[in-house]
Amino acid sequence: MLNPDLLDRAVEMLRRGGVIALPTETVYGLAANAEDELAVRRVFAIKGRPATHPLIVHIPGAEHLSEWARTLPDEALALARAFWPGPLTLVLPRTARATDAVTGGQDTVALRVPGHPVALEVLRRLGGGVAAPSANRFGRVSPTTAEHVRQDLGGDVDLVLDGGPSTVGVESTIVDLSSGAPAILRPGGLATEEVERVLGKAVPVRASTTVRVSGSLASHYAPRAGVVLSEPSEALQQVNALRARGLRVGVLGPASLSLPEDVQRFDVPGEPAEAARVLYARLREADEQGHDVLVACLPAASGLGIAVRDRLSRAAAPREG
Ligand code: TXA
Ligand code: MG
Repeated sequence: MLNPDLLDRAVEMLRRGGVIALPTETVYGLAANAEDELAVRRVFAIKGRPATHPLIVHIPGAEHLSEWARTLPDEALALARAFWPGPLTLVLPRTARATDAVTGGQDTVALRVPGHPVALEVLRRLGGGVAAPSANRFGRVSPTTAEHVRQDLGGDVDLVLDGGPSTVGVESTIVDLSSGAPAILRPGGLATEEVERVLGKAVPVRASTTVRVSGSLASHYAPRAGVVLSEPSEALQQVNALRARGLRVGVLGPASLSLPEDVQRFDVPGEPAEAARVLYARLREADEQGHDVLVACLPAASGLGIAVRDRLSRAAAPREG
């Protein structure tokens, strides 16, 4: 836990309309008081993100849900009870407290109780909601350390709270409970299987058609280098083919790969939760080495492997411009 003076300063800044970087268990967030429209607008400006993209409101506990959501289906309460604090975001019909600035003018709001002691303590002391997208520039890989935030946003934030490396490593799983059957809008740090276990039924992944979800833009999680997806068993073949074309190639994958000695490998274990935890840091490291192409090995498509595959697929998607 951070020293109490620093926590006080952070809360004071949020009260006064400041924008701070806040550690969470998923990724670092760029945080503003959700009820302060000017501060929320500054978040969009710092990120360089279109103001129509809605933000997640972080709250201190499930007992605050009714302040932000005007209907609370049993399924929302069951998921909140099972997984908060934790890497789960619920989309629900909003109350007036969730302003257009936060929701992008939609009638719903995304809510989450983060499972990081520093974030929780800041929220409890503030006693309100904090709007916080990931603390990276729009289109870049999300930060999982305070150092990543400083590299991306530097002096643009009023304070960076360092809570150590994020332990989950990918963004929260977003479950839409605002109308009809529940659906997953973004696979993330809570496995789909866990959501389904508590709800007692299958929950489909549904890319939102009406809502502008940043993570759903194909090339959202893009490093500078090109990314080629590979099954681990085919990585060597891919590397050789790319090198034959004169490209500088790096590999993201487990230690068990057999690769030519002069190929740089960035360790992304095959175990899905471990892969999720280190994925963004490894993408950044790999990207700094100036490779033309990164061959990224896919983890198994279960548990957090779904989220890792999702992020890697976006990193590999064709870029705009
Ligand atoms: O793990 C996380 O969720 C991190 C940490 C900081 O909590 N936050 C995060 O925020 O990933 P951001 O802004 O990068 O992603 C928020 C996602 C976006 O895809 C956004 O479109 C979606 O939540 N979202 C927000 N409000 C929504 C709503 N009312 N309906 C549907 N999607 C919504
Ligand atoms: Mg983001």
